[in-house]
Amino acid sequence: MKTESSGGGQPAHFSGRRHSLIEDARRERSIVGSAEPYRGGEVQVFEEKEGRLTVNLLFTLSSEKNAGFFKMGKIFETFNAKLLHVESRPGRRSKNSTSDLEFFVKCELHNSDLDVFVNSLKRVVDNVRSVPEEKVPWFPRQIKELDRCNLLITKFNPDMDKDHPGYTDQEYRKRRAYISELSYRYKQGDRLPVVEYTAEETATWREVYKKLRGIYPKLACRQFLDGLQQLERECGYGEERIPQLRDISAFLKEKTGFQLRPVAGLLSARDFLASLAFRVFQCTQYIRHASSPMHSPEPDCCHELLGHIPMLADKEFAQFSQEIGLASLGASQEDIEKLSTLYWFTVEFGLCKQNGTVKAYGAGLLSSYGELVYALSNEPEYKAFDPEETAKQPYQDQSYQPVYFVSESFEDAKVKLRKYSKTIKRPFALRYEPLTCSVEVLDLPRKIQNALWQTQDDLKMLQGALEKLSSS
Ligand SMILES: [Fe+2]
Repeated sequence: MKTESSGGGQPAHFSGRRHSLIEDARRERSIVGSAEPYRGGEVQVFEEKEGRLTVNLLFTLSSEKNAGFFKMGKIFETFNAKLLHVESRPGRRSKNSTSDLEFFVKCELHNSDLDVFVNSLKRVVDNVRSVPEEKVPWFPRQIKELDRCNLLITKFNPDMDKDHPGYTDQEYRKRRAYISELSYRYKQGDRLPVVEYTAEETATWREVYKKLRGIYPKLACRQFLDGLQQLERECGYGEERIPQLRDISAFLKEKTGFQLRPVAGLLSARDFLASLAFRVFQCTQYIRHASSPMHSPEPDCCHELLGHIPMLADKEFAQFSQEIGLASLGASQEDIEKLSTLYWFTVEFGLCKQNGTVKAYGAGLLSSYGELVYALSNEPEYKAFDPEETAKQPYQDQSYQPVYFVSESFEDAKVKLRKYSKTIKRPFALRYEPLTCSVEVLDLPRKIQNALWQTQDDLKMLQGALEKLSSS
């Protein structure tokens, strides 16, 4: 994108240019149109939102051109460029480096003004260049952006996988397509769809429920049993019907702040983990094929509702799940693979110690009769949960796991995971804001200061509570 005034000019000619800059900007806008995003040029834009761009600029102001500082300010004013961050340091590149100043400016401005703005700066300061922001993969910052986290892995579904028990059953595939459609239409904040399950589907559920329910008291951890009992009391869990996501989601929201959203199948690790950061669990609504009630190659409502949901009713486990999700936001693909392996060996196939014995808390175990019994027999190898080692362990998605990781407790797993997540390379820290269900990127001193003030207020409130207790 070029303008008639591009290419710069001598500072001596700047007099009267303010008017021409405005004219240039107007001309640019009339050519490009305010809705058109910036797509080219030499300046590296790293964020674009509602027609405004964020850019990082570096430039040098020579000691002979102090007036350039004020002219530069005028340019920012003219283009209504919002300053987000400014730093200066002694120049390092020019011959007069002892007296020149190098500036770093992060600013936000209208997308159609960018080229003219940069060219205007070039007239009053030297060596203008943009600095790329560390590139991180896109991630949702608000809960409604989970509508974009919908990348499905289709390799295990009945339309793609010849080994799927429902592959040759056209009726089953039609039913799956109908239930998938409900989830495709869903937008964050909508009421969750209700599925009227058939007698055959309910019979499959009954068989799974009955078989697993019988071994839970002996093999499942205390938190799981507590959650399941509450779900049986308050949420219609039982052999007679398949519970509805709408009722379960309302129940979880009250218990731990988690909510459900329907999904058509197995999601990509990045999208699934991102949802957890917002305390949203993406949950399938269809049931496995009736010919294979004890096995499903993909997640289904037996796996979700029996394996995952009772654990998500536990506050500590909910926190643990959210922390895995938060650690995944903006992480590299390599780190996503490590985190999903950690997820696999904890949330899906985790074991923990309770009162001197090992119990299951992983959903993959608690929804599979055969593997639950196997995992808690003397056959498999156990290792202590250590995120560094667990993240590298090859996992098995076609048969039983060769090794299971045992946590001392959830608290222990959470502490270790938090420590591990600090090793994930990201150029910023994140904070979850529960009031707005959004993620704040702590990349500016102002944001960090606000977060500190909020933490200080919380600490004062807790100190006040302690004082009240000790004086009563
Ligand atoms: Fe799962």
